[in-house]
Formats: sequence, C-alpha cells, structure tokens
Amino acid sequence: MMDWTDRHCRYFMRLLSPSALLYTEMVTANAIHFGNADELLRYDMSEHPIAVQLGGSDPALMAEAAMLAAKVGYDEVNINVGCPSDRVQSGQFGACLMSSPEIVADCVRAMRAEVDVPVTVKNRIGIDDQDSDEFLFRFVDTVAAAGCNKFVVHARIAILDGLSPKQNRSVPPLNYDRVFKLKQRHPELEIVINGGLQTIGQVDDVLQRVDGAMIGREAYHNPYFLAELEKHRDPNWQSPERRDVVASMLPYIEEQLATGEKLGRITRHMLGLFAGQPGARAWRRSLSENAFKENAGVEVIEAAIEAMPIAA
Ligand SMILES: Cc1cc2nc3c(=O)[nH]c(=O)nc-3n(C[C@H](O)[C@H](O)[C@H](O)COP(=O)(O)O)c2cc1C
Repeated sequence: MMDWTDRHCRYFMRLLSPSALLYTEMVTANAIHFGNADELLRYDMSEHPIAVQLGGSDPALMAEAAMLAAKVGYDEVNINVGCPSDRVQSGQFGACLMSSPEIVADCVRAMRAEVDVPVTVKNRIGIDDQDSDEFLFRFVDTVAAAGCNKFVVHARIAILDGLSPKQNRSVPPLNYDRVFKLKQRHPELEIVINGGLQTIGQVDDVLQRVDGAMIGREAYHNPYFLAELEKHRDPNWQSPERRDVVASMLPYIEEQLATGEKLGRITRHMLGLFAGQPGARAWRRSLSENAFKENAGVEVIEAAIEAMPIAA
C-alpha cells in the first residue's frame, strides 16, 4: 500500500506474522528505469517471503524491473492492475489495464522470459460499467494464457472517472461471489481474494472458497490482527506479546537511526499496535507527538511503553 507498506512497515509486520507473504508498495517500472533502483527495491532479508508490486504497461520496462527485482531476491513479482488514481491512468497502467488484457499478457510474457519467480497480477473485478463476470473472465483468461498462474483480486470494481482512490476502496460494493466464480472457472489458478477482510471468521470463510486472503487496511490499522491470524492458523506458534514486538523493533530502529533515518518514519507504522487495548490512545499520542522531534531516539518508544498499563 502506497506510503504505508514501506520497508520499515514490512520489517515490523514480519515480527507479527512469520508466514504471511508481504507485498511492497507499488513501484513503477519507470521509476526503476530512470531512478535509483537499488533504493526503490531495498528490503531487509527478514522480510522474506516478499513480493514486489510493479506498476507499468511497457513490456520491456516491466521486464527490466522484474529482472532487477528478482536479482535482489524478491520471491514474487506482481503487476498492479487495480490502482484507479488519475496519475496512474495518465501513465496508462493500473486498473485501466483491465480493459486491455492483451497488454497485461504481453507484460507477463516479457517478464516471465526474464525471471524464474512467479509473475502475478493484482486486479479488480471490473471497471466503470464493465461490471460483469464475463468481463473479469475475459481479463483473467487472456492473462492466464500468457503464463500468469496467480491473481489477487480486489473484490470491487474501480470507478475510473469520478471517485478518488480512497472512495474506490469503499464506495463500490464488495462482490466476493464473482471471485468465487472465478476460482470455480479456473481451479488450476491460485486465486487470492482481497477487500474488506477484518476478522478471523471472515478469513476462514473465504479460504473455504479460494486459495488465499490478502489483508490491507486491517493489517495496517490493527497490526496485531496478523499475529492473531497466524496463531489461529498455526496454534503451535509462540505468538509474541505486543510489548515483545516493540522490544524486537528497538535494535532495528537503532540501526536505522544510525544511518540517518528519522524515528517517526518508522514508528508511524507502529501506532496501531495496541488498538483495542488499554492505553492505546496514550501510546499513539506519545509516539505521534514525540517521534518527529529533532534527534528523537528509542528513548521515545521506551517512555511510551513505560507509560502503558501493565495489562497491555
Ligand atoms: C493507503 C493505501 C495505499 C494503497 N496502495 C496500493 C498499492 O500500491 N497497490 C495495490 O495493489 N493496492 C493498493 N491499495 C489497495 C489495497 O491493496 C487493497 O486492495 C484495498 O485496500 C482493499 O483491501 P482491504 O479492505 O483489506 O484494505 C492501497 C490501499 C491503501 C489504503
């Protein structure tokens, strides 16, 4: 998720879930080609398994970006066919590509020729007035024929004209049924469902019908949900307490601060750790108010933890 699941966020999330496949924010193939590819693709080894999400529609640039990502060890390369923002549309990629499945197929072919790791797609169930099973099936049939075996499907359409990206994540209604039908049509494909999953029960339900569940906003706003989910699926896993997770972040944070990173850039992802727990608001406030101060260090976090009620 853009501006959210940066490398610091993913380092933190990995402490909460050893098995989840983590996705980067979307990185455009253009940015990788013209910019600092090493920095854009930077991640910590502990983040594995990790997928990079690429945005673009030029097969040669997408192939180059995939190759560079695979070279630094990403476990999966995912193509963004879901982002509705104007900026992305003017670059002719993101959700608008759903009506050009041949272009996505060309990208998949070019990328697969360069990398051994899976090339996957994240798409919507439709766009604008193209809101039918047939439209989704035509997209997936065409892209799967190019060798894409895994689709992560955000189970709502995108409205490309008139809704902001934020509205496009809540206004169009969720339609899980269409994703379930896609799986019935293509039992051979790995189909991962996304959109609106917020409870363990919901995740269990969808996993009866598809192969995977992707969790976005709930994982960010309430990161401990990932630990609860992990524990639910693997009861033998020794889940860390929230405080242990904070303690495990400290050496990483010190290392990052030593390279010039700002404390607030890391702690902003940790604000929701105590969501629903006593002291949650004080934790948020303490970090929000202090972590962006000049020369703020780990003592800010230690003080915030110290002030938490013992039950949390
Ligand atoms: C701040 C933010 C940024 C996002 N950026 C991306 C992105 O870069 N690529 C992408 O495929 N989806 C992006 N999304 C969409 C999410 O991946 C997901 O499809 C959507 O939020 C629905 O899932 P959820 O209800 O579990 O959050 C973003 C969502 C949010 C809230």
